[in-house]
Amino acid sequence: MLKRILTRLVDPQYRRPSGILGRYIGAKMIEQHAPENNWTVELLNAMPNDRILEIGFGGGYAIGRLAEVVTQGLIAGVDFSETMVAEATKRNAAAINAGRVNLRLADAAKLPLEANAFNKAFSIHSLYFWPEPLKALGEILRVLQPGGMLVVTFLPKASPDETGNTEFRPYSGAEVVALLHVSGFREMTLHDGRTLTRKSNYSVVGYKYAN
Ligand SMILES: C[S@@+](CC[C@H](N)C(=O)[O-])C[C@H]1O[C@@H](n2cnc3c(N)ncnc32)[C@H](O)[C@@H]1O
Repeated sequence: MLKRILTRLVDPQYRRPSGILGRYIGAKMIEQHAPENNWTVELLNAMPNDRILEIGFGGGYAIGRLAEVVTQGLIAGVDFSETMVAEATKRNAAAINAGRVNLRLADAAKLPLEANAFNKAFSIHSLYFWPEPLKALGEILRVLQPGGMLVVTFLPKASPDETGNTEFRPYSGAEVVALLHVSGFREMTLHDGRTLTRKSNYSVVGYKYAN
C-alpha cells in the first residue's frame, strides 16, 4: 500500500519534476543517470566550437560536462519543467553568465530555436515521455544543420510486449532507429551500453541529411 502511494507520487516526477519533491528527484537523477550522461557525452565527442542542444536536461549534469569542453561555441538546452530549468540554471550559473550556456523552458515538440542553429543534439531518458515523438524529432531535425548529429539515449524496453502507458512509452532499439528514420534522420547506428559497468542504456545516433 505505502509502496503504491510512493510510486504514484514519485513516478510522475521523472516525467516532469516539480516543487520540492521535483528538486529532490532532480538531484537523485544526476547521481542515478551519471553513467548514461557520461556515455552520451563521450558519443558526442565535443569540440570547442560545437553548438550543441540537449532536450530534457533535468538537473543539467551533461550540460555542465559539455560546457567544460565547448569554450568557443554554445551549449543550449530545453526542458518543460520549471523546477529543472531553475536547478540546471543554478548548477551551470558560471557558464550561463559567461554566455556559453543557454537554458530555456520549452516543450520538445515546439523548440523556440532557429533552424540550422546546432551541429549536435542529444536527449537522455526523455523520449519515453514525449506524447508526439515524431513532432519533437522533426523539431530537432529543423534546428540541426545539414550533416548534424543526434544522439538519443534511453533504457530499452524489457520485452517486445511492453507497451507502457500514455505518460511513459518504452521503446526497443529498432523502434527508435525507425522513429529517427521516419523523421528524416539517416545513417543510424545503435550503440549498446549495457555491457559496461552500471550502464543499462542504448544510444541511437543519426544524422540530418547533408544538402
Ligand atoms: C527522467 S528525466 C531525465 C533528465 C536527464 N536527461 C537525466 O539524464 O538525468 C526526463 C526529463 O525530460 C524532461 N521532459 C520530459 N518530456 C519533455 C518534453 N516534452 N519537452 C521537454 N522536456 C521534457 C523532464 O522535465 C525531465 O527533466
